[in-house]
Amino acid sequence: MRTTPVYYYSSASGLVRSFAERLDRPVFNLAERQHRMSRVDGPWVLLTPSYKTGNENNDTIPEAVRRFLRDPTNRRRMVGVMGSGNRNFGRHYQMACRQIAERSGRPVLFEFEIAGTPWDVTECRRILAELDAALAAGHDVQLG
Ligand SMILES: Cc1cc2nc3c(=O)[nH]c(=O)nc-3n(C[C@H](O)[C@H](O)[C@H](O)COP(=O)(O)O)c2cc1C
Repeated sequence: MRTTPVYYYSSASGLVRSFAERLDRPVFNLAERQHRMSRVDGPWVLLTPSYKTGNENNDTIPEAVRRFLRDPTNRRRMVGVMGSGNRNFGRHYQMACRQIAERSGRPVLFEFEIAGTPWDVTECRRILAELDAALAAGHDVQLG
Protein backbone atom coordinates (compact mmCIF):
# COMPACT_ATOMS: atom_id res chain seq x y z
CA MET A 1 0.00 0.00 0.00
CA ARG A 2 1.28 3.45 -0.86
CA THR A 3 2.05 5.70 2.10
CA THR A 4 0.61 9.13 1.37
CA PRO A 5 3.37 11.73 1.78
CA VAL A 6 2.93 14.90 3.82
CA TYR A 7 4.31 18.17 2.47
CA TYR A 8 4.63 20.74 5.23
CA TYR A 9 5.94 24.21 5.84
CA SER A 10 7.83 25.00 9.02
CA SER A 11 9.62 28.21 9.97
CA ALA A 12 12.99 28.39 11.68
CA SER A 13 11.40 27.56 15.06
CA GLY A 14 10.60 24.15 13.57
CA LEU A 15 7.47 23.30 15.57
CA VAL A 16 5.62 21.85 12.60
CA ARG A 17 8.75 20.03 11.45
CA SER A 18 9.07 18.25 14.80
CA PHE A 19 5.43 17.14 14.50
CA ALA A 20 5.80 16.04 10.86
CA GLU A 21 8.90 14.01 11.64
CA ARG A 22 6.95 11.99 14.22
CA LEU A 23 4.35 10.84 11.67
CA ASP A 24 6.37 7.81 10.51
CA ARG A 25 5.87 8.46 6.80
CA PRO A 26 7.61 10.42 4.03
CA VAL A 27 7.51 14.14 4.88
CA PHE A 28 8.92 17.02 2.85
CA ASN A 29 9.65 20.52 4.08
CA LEU A 30 8.47 23.21 1.66
CA ALA A 31 10.89 25.64 3.27
CA GLU A 32 13.53 23.77 1.24
CA ARG A 33 13.70 24.96 -2.35
CA GLN A 34 14.08 21.48 -3.88
CA HIS A 35 10.75 20.43 -2.37
CA ARG A 36 8.98 23.74 -2.95
CA MET A 37 9.85 23.53 -6.67
CA SER A 38 8.94 19.84 -7.04
CA ARG A 39 5.88 18.12 -8.47
CA VAL A 40 4.12 15.34 -6.55
CA ASP A 41 3.88 11.83 -8.04
CA GLY A 42 0.51 10.95 -6.51
CA PRO A 43 -1.93 11.85 -3.74
CA TRP A 44 -0.47 13.95 -0.94
CA VAL A 45 -1.49 15.87 2.17
CA LEU A 46 -0.60 19.44 3.11
CA LEU A 47 0.35 20.43 6.67
CA THR A 48 0.59 24.17 7.16
CA PRO A 49 0.90 26.57 10.07
CA SER A 50 -0.92 29.92 9.92
CA TYR A 51 1.17 33.09 10.01
CA LYS A 52 -0.65 36.35 10.44
CA THR A 53 1.53 38.87 8.70
CA GLY A 54 -0.42 42.02 9.51
CA ASN A 55 -0.88 42.95 5.85
CA GLU A 56 -4.17 44.44 4.72
CA ASN A 57 -5.60 41.08 3.66
CA ASN A 58 -4.67 39.52 7.02
CA ASP A 59 -3.14 36.79 4.95
CA THR A 60 -1.81 33.80 6.90
CA ILE A 61 -0.74 31.32 4.17
CA PRO A 62 3.07 30.83 4.11
CA GLU A 63 4.60 31.92 0.80
CA ALA A 64 6.26 28.51 0.31
CA VAL A 65 2.86 26.81 0.51
CA ARG A 66 1.42 29.30 -1.95
CA ARG A 67 4.30 28.63 -4.33
CA PHE A 68 3.85 24.85 -4.17
CA LEU A 69 0.11 25.16 -4.81
CA ARG A 70 0.68 27.28 -7.90
CA ASP A 71 1.44 24.03 -9.76
CA PRO A 72 -1.88 22.68 -11.13
CA THR A 73 -0.76 19.04 -10.74
CA ASN A 74 0.10 19.60 -7.10
CA ARG A 75 -3.26 21.29 -6.55
CA ARG A 76 -5.18 18.49 -8.24
CA ARG A 77 -3.45 15.71 -6.35
CA MET A 78 -3.81 17.25 -2.87
CA VAL A 79 -6.31 15.07 -1.00
CA GLY A 80 -6.54 16.88 2.34
CA VAL A 81 -5.20 19.67 4.53
CA MET A 82 -3.91 19.68 8.12
CA GLY A 83 -3.05 22.72 10.23
CA SER A 84 -0.96 23.88 13.15
CA GLY A 85 -2.05 27.07 14.88
CA ASN A 86 -2.40 28.88 18.15
CA ARG A 87 -5.79 29.77 19.67
CA ASN A 88 -4.35 33.06 20.93
CA PHE A 89 -4.84 34.30 17.36
CA GLY A 90 -8.60 34.20 17.86
CA ARG A 91 -10.57 34.42 14.62
CA HIS A 92 -7.34 33.84 12.69
CA TYR A 93 -6.92 30.41 14.33
CA GLN A 94 -5.98 27.87 11.62
CA MET A 95 -6.89 30.41 8.96
CA ALA A 96 -4.33 29.17 6.39
CA CYS A 97 -5.42 25.54 6.67
CA ARG A 98 -9.11 26.42 6.58
CA GLN A 99 -8.82 28.84 3.66
CA ILE A 100 -6.88 26.35 1.55
CA ALA A 101 -9.41 23.61 2.34
CA GLU A 102 -12.30 25.87 1.41
CA ARG A 103 -10.76 27.13 -1.83
CA SER A 104 -9.66 23.67 -2.96
CA GLY A 105 -12.77 21.79 -1.84
CA ARG A 106 -10.56 19.34 0.10
CA PRO A 107 -11.27 18.31 3.71
CA VAL A 108 -9.49 19.52 6.83
CA LEU A 109 -8.14 16.18 8.08
CA PHE A 110 -6.61 17.31 11.38
CA GLU A 111 -5.74 20.43 13.36
CA PHE A 112 -3.47 20.85 16.37
CA GLU A 113 -1.88 23.64 18.38
CA ILE A 114 1.77 24.66 18.22
CA ALA A 115 3.96 21.52 18.17
CA GLY A 116 1.11 19.13 19.07
CA THR A 117 0.80 16.70 21.98
CA PRO A 118 1.68 12.98 21.92
CA TRP A 119 -2.09 12.33 21.58
CA ASP A 120 -2.17 14.60 18.52
CA VAL A 121 0.64 12.61 16.91
CA THR A 122 -1.12 9.29 17.55
CA GLU A 123 -4.43 10.60 16.28
CA CYS A 124 -2.87 12.12 13.18
CA ARG A 125 -1.07 8.85 12.38
CA ARG A 126 -4.40 7.01 12.65
CA ILE A 127 -6.17 9.46 10.33
CA LEU A 128 -3.40 9.24 7.74
CA ALA A 129 -3.37 5.42 7.90
CA GLU A 130 -7.12 5.47 7.23
CA LEU A 131 -6.51 7.78 4.30
CA ASP A 132 -3.86 5.40 2.89
CA ALA A 133 -6.35 2.54 3.08
CA ALA A 134 -9.17 4.57 1.50
CA LEU A 135 -6.92 5.60 -1.39
CA ALA A 136 -5.71 2.03 -1.88
CA ALA A 137 -9.36 0.90 -2.01
CA GLY A 138 -9.92 3.29 -4.89
CA HIS A 139 -11.80 6.05 -3.10
CA ASP A 140 -9.60 8.52 -4.91
CA VAL A 141 -12.03 10.79 -6.65
CA GLN A 142 -9.70 13.74 -6.90
CA LEU A 143 -6.55 12.21 -8.37
CA GLY A 144 -5.16 13.63 -11.57
C1 LIG B 1 4.29 35.74 13.90
C2 LIG B 1 3.33 34.60 14.14
C3 LIG B 1 2.05 34.69 13.63
C4 LIG B 1 1.13 33.61 13.83
N1 LIG B 1 -0.15 33.73 13.35
C5 LIG B 1 -1.05 32.74 13.58
C6 LIG B 1 -2.41 32.84 13.11
O1 LIG B 1 -2.81 33.80 12.45
N2 LIG B 1 -3.25 31.80 13.36
C7 LIG B 1 -2.87 30.69 14.05
O2 LIG B 1 -3.69 29.80 14.25
N3 LIG B 1 -1.59 30.57 14.52
C8 LIG B 1 -0.69 31.56 14.30
N4 LIG B 1 0.61 31.42 14.77
C9 LIG B 1 1.00 30.20 15.46
C10 LIG B 1 1.77 29.26 14.52
O3 LIG B 1 1.01 28.91 13.38
C11 LIG B 1 2.12 27.96 15.27
O4 LIG B 1 2.86 28.28 16.42
C12 LIG B 1 2.92 26.99 14.41
O5 LIG B 1 3.11 25.81 15.16
C13 LIG B 1 4.29 27.51 14.00
O6 LIG B 1 4.97 26.49 13.29
P1 LIG B 1 6.52 26.58 12.92
O7 LIG B 1 7.25 26.93 14.17
O8 LIG B 1 6.87 25.23 12.42
O9 LIG B 1 6.67 27.61 11.85
C14 LIG B 1 1.53 32.46 14.57
C15 LIG B 1 2.84 32.41 15.08
C16 LIG B 1 3.73 33.44 14.88
C17 LIG B 1 5.12 33.33 15.46
